[in-house]
Amino acid sequence: MAGKQEKGFVLWFTGLPCSGKTTVADLAAERLKKYVRKVERLDGDIVRKTLSSDLGFSRQDRAENIKRVAFMAKLLSRNGVGVVASFISPYRQARQKIREDVTNFIEIFVDCPSQVCRNRDVKGMYRLAEKNQIRDFTGVSAPYQKPLNPEVTLHTEKESPEESCLKILEYLKSKEII
Ligand SMILES: Nc1ncnc2c1ncn2[C@@H]1O[C@H](COP(=O)(O)OP(=O)(O)OP(=O)(O)O)[C@@H](O)[C@H]1O
Ligand SMILES: [Mg+2]
Repeated sequence: MAGKQEKGFVLWFTGLPCSGKTTVADLAAERLKKYVRKVERLDGDIVRKTLSSDLGFSRQDRAENIKRVAFMAKLLSRNGVGVVASFISPYRQARQKIREDVTNFIEIFVDCPSQVCRNRDVKGMYRLAEKNQIRDFTGVSAPYQKPLNPEVTLHTEKESPEESCLKILEYLKSKEII
């Protein structure tokens, strides 16, 4: 017989490119293994190379990308998985839709000043976007709509990834999700 099913949830990291979504989400997923039996990571870079390799970065394609990921997150979380998802997901409406579709949706706003993100430029994409060599780049030539009521806000320009991660774990504990 199947054992007791854990409550699933979706931790949804949103923020500008280079704000620190992947860095903190990876760490949080690792730390969560102490509390949750099943944790799954969904990350923009990986999904873009696999599930959504046919899509670009127009508003329509971004909506489609998030729709696919939201569907996976829904299936996983309703089966007791703690989903840790990190996507720029710049449109409020797309994030709102996921909030409506899954139970225990936790929006984590990775709030980092645009200038700090540009200086980090881990993948050299800001440099290309500023030279007009890539189109529709969030924060340069495509919009980013900040969350209005995120459950957790991280300030990665002044917190360490460890501190950001602790904030998330504290939130989950305070809501008795973990
Ligand atoms: N406090 C911090 N939290 C997270 N990342 C930090 C912090 N301080 C410095 N960094 C650095 O900032 C960079 C953030 O890059 P990361 O790939 O995590 O961003 P991202 O939001 O996932 O970007 P993208 O949307 O392009 O995938 C990393 O090089 C990381 O080491
Ligand atoms: Mg990333």
